[in-house]
Amino acid sequence: MAKNDIKILMAKDGIENSHQIDVAMKHGAYSALKKALKMENTAITSEVKTSGVRGRGGAGFPAGIKWGFMPIGDRKKKPNYVVVNADESEPGTFKDRWLIEKDPHMLIEGIIITSYAVEAHVAYIYIRGEYYKQALILEKAIEEAYAKGFLGKNILGSGFDLELTVHRGAGAYICGEETALLNSLEGRRGYPRIKPPYFPAAIGVFMCPTLVNNVETIANVPWIIENGGEAFSEIGKPNNTGTKLLSVSGHVNLPGVYEVPLGLNLMTLINDYCGGIRDGHKLKAVIPGGSSMPVLKAEECDVDMDFDALKNAGSSLGSGGVIVMDETTCMVDVCLNLLKFYAHESCGQCTPCREGMPWMARMLQRIKSGEGRPEDIELVLNVADYVGGDIDFSRGKLGKTICALGEAGSWPTIALIKKYRDEFEHFCKNHEPLIKRDKSIKTPKNAIAEVVAT
Ligand SMILES: Cc1cc2nc3c(=O)[nH]c(=O)nc-3n(C[C@H](O)[C@H](O)[C@H](O)COP(=O)(O)O)c2cc1C
Repeated sequence: MAKNDIKILMAKDGIENSHQIDVAMKHGAYSALKKALKMENTAITSEVKTSGVRGRGGAGFPAGIKWGFMPIGDRKKKPNYVVVNADESEPGTFKDRWLIEKDPHMLIEGIIITSYAVEAHVAYIYIRGEYYKQALILEKAIEEAYAKGFLGKNILGSGFDLELTVHRGAGAYICGEETALLNSLEGRRGYPRIKPPYFPAAIGVFMCPTLVNNVETIANVPWIIENGGEAFSEIGKPNNTGTKLLSVSGHVNLPGVYEVPLGLNLMTLINDYCGGIRDGHKLKAVIPGGSSMPVLKAEECDVDMDFDALKNAGSSLGSGGVIVMDETTCMVDVCLNLLKFYAHESCGQCTPCREGMPWMARMLQRIKSGEGRPEDIELVLNVADYVGGDIDFSRGKLGKTICALGEAGSWPTIALIKKYRDEFEHFCKNHEPLIKRDKSIKTPKNAIAEVVAT
């Protein structure tokens, strides 16, 4: 991991045993907590609002505004809860894993400060089932925090109590969606709830007000309290403040997790941070924000990596999972791979998603098997319109399903076909791919995530 000039989240990168409390404390862990517990809880929320930090789980909703929805003081009629979303199941995304493995105490400190701010006395970390090792790391770190008096009753003599528990999911993408996550946490099937009325801050876990934030969002909180919201807001770009963890996978020489100021140019990320495209190949495309986001063609990649710039470019920063593809990549393969994933992960609650995702996947499989018909391309686009529509509203309409999994499968499908239609047409007409995979090329050994294209 190189070139990280500003380190908020990866400040302990390279420090041996940084996951252990004594090591973490030597490097400043829990000092923000001591400061926070002396502040009014509303002042903490104000700092988070001033920082401008936007949610790092995908939608980019301003965290301070969300915290402000929680009923506190006289408005509090039921217990409040804090739930940290560590589901991280979006293909291409592995940055929360880095934080949990390397700096679990920064996350725990962030959770305690957050809970104090929103008057919650019980908090959960909901972690995906596959993150078994990471769940153990968190459990051990929580045990250490209890032993030091940072969790439990009367934290550091402040009168504030907090119980923190790790809850493991069973390995379902849908349980990253916040209301499905809450159902799963309650022991129910992971079906998303209808919003409204089930906005978590109003009706969340156990029907009580619940703040749900991503791991990375919460991990920023100690730094914001220590240094002030103003200092945070000066990093990055207006409306896109702070740094962002980007997990880069695919055809670059140095895949990995990088902390960059929001607004870093995508080509700078690829060339200067990630060592360029493997074996001197040419860049073909990038999915900039996890597999559910529309692909950018190489000529569209001179773009800033932030919420607004990527939205203007017709894609999204999403979860910060950057999937880089070189010119050996067959886009029909990519599309099939993605659709198989979304078909498998559809929870089945909404008909368009339950029926549409497998239907699209079957059509792509047919094309890939050399039995595609020219009319299949329009049919896939048509089904995608009915399932989730396009990110720029140009096809179909959004919101046909209870949660955004419908969009998650449709957006990348429509973008891949719109931008690489010649490859789909060639396959249907000639019954073989336009781009044949070069099996002699090896993916770099330190590639962490499987690239969707291979
Ligand atoms: C299908 C689906 C999957 C999601 N998966 C995740 C996930 O794995 N991790 C995450 O933090 N947010 C995920 N989200 C977004 C959450 O619903 C929610 O917006 C987020 O946890 C809020 O945290 P933030 O405001 O800090 O970003 C997903 C959303 C959808 C629709």
